[in-house]
Amino acid sequence: MSLLERSFHLAHYIFPEGGSCLEFGVFRGGTFAYQADQINKHYPKSRLIGFDSWQGLPEETPGIWIPERHAKGEYAAPKDEVLRKLAEANLSIDDPRLRLVDGFYSDSLTPDVRSSIDSLIFVNIDVDIYSSTIELLDFIEPLLRPGVILYWDDWKDPRDSHDKPWGEHAAWDDWRAKHPGIEVATVGTNEYLQQVMVVTAAHGATLAAPLPSLAEIEKRAAELERNPPELRKRKAGESALTSVKIWVNSIPVIGPAIRRAYRALG
Ligand SMILES: C[S@@+](CC[C@H](N)C(=O)[O-])C[C@H]1O[C@@H](n2cnc3c(N)ncnc32)[C@H](O)[C@@H]1O
Repeated sequence: MSLLERSFHLAHYIFPEGGSCLEFGVFRGGTFAYQADQINKHYPKSRLIGFDSWQGLPEETPGIWIPERHAKGEYAAPKDEVLRKLAEANLSIDDPRLRLVDGFYSDSLTPDVRSSIDSLIFVNIDVDIYSSTIELLDFIEPLLRPGVILYWDDWKDPRDSHDKPWGEHAAWDDWRAKHPGIEVATVGTNEYLQQVMVVTAAHGATLAAPLPSLAEIEKRAAELERNPPELRKRKAGESALTSVKIWVNSIPVIGPAIRRAYRALG
């Protein structure tokens, strides 16, 4: 299981009754379809909302460094591709638990949309750049509560380096300095330096029963990492070889080692 997938399950361990899951940066819908499928199969009371421009990344805040692949317009993808992925999983955006909010965050993250979201449990942050991260953090701030999992897909990609902070990690540092009442603990990372945080304090509330303790959350995160992955069902049209590759790739320790060796070979 990827770190994103483990984080999604961790959120449902913390909140077994389910709740709202948000994905900022849907692109072609790979991770959106995964979460939708898991909700359908295992967490039927949860909901998933994805936010994307479908026009790719906007301009980064002037003065903040970007690697080339984070230039304006990168990662543009038609929304239809997401709908097609849902259909492959026998799901549809007409399912009342699923929703896609279209547009750039500067327009789409409105108070009305925020007030339609209740019981936040999971946030997948995969927007790559500083400006988008600040916008989404401002949007979710009133919804944060102890136990919410924040997953950062591009926290500090090891392919990139710069003398000053950039992208998602720079945005978190700046935003967090202005919101001292929001406290988090990091409960997972990997060789891509993706991060998983759990909110430990927000709006005067702290992590307390009936929620699991931080030690219990850390233990569950470690168990999810150790447990062998489930054998996944082969998707329609997927070759047996691809299926085996995806499965091997998802095995803890072995998958990352193979990926490292593959990268080293160029
Ligand atoms: C790296 S891709 C997401 C990948 C996806 N989560 C996956 O794993 O397949 C980043 C996405 O964030 C979206 N995005 C970034 N900043 C945005 C903004 N300010 N408004 C709307 N969409 C934004 C882009 O359109 C792009 O689809």
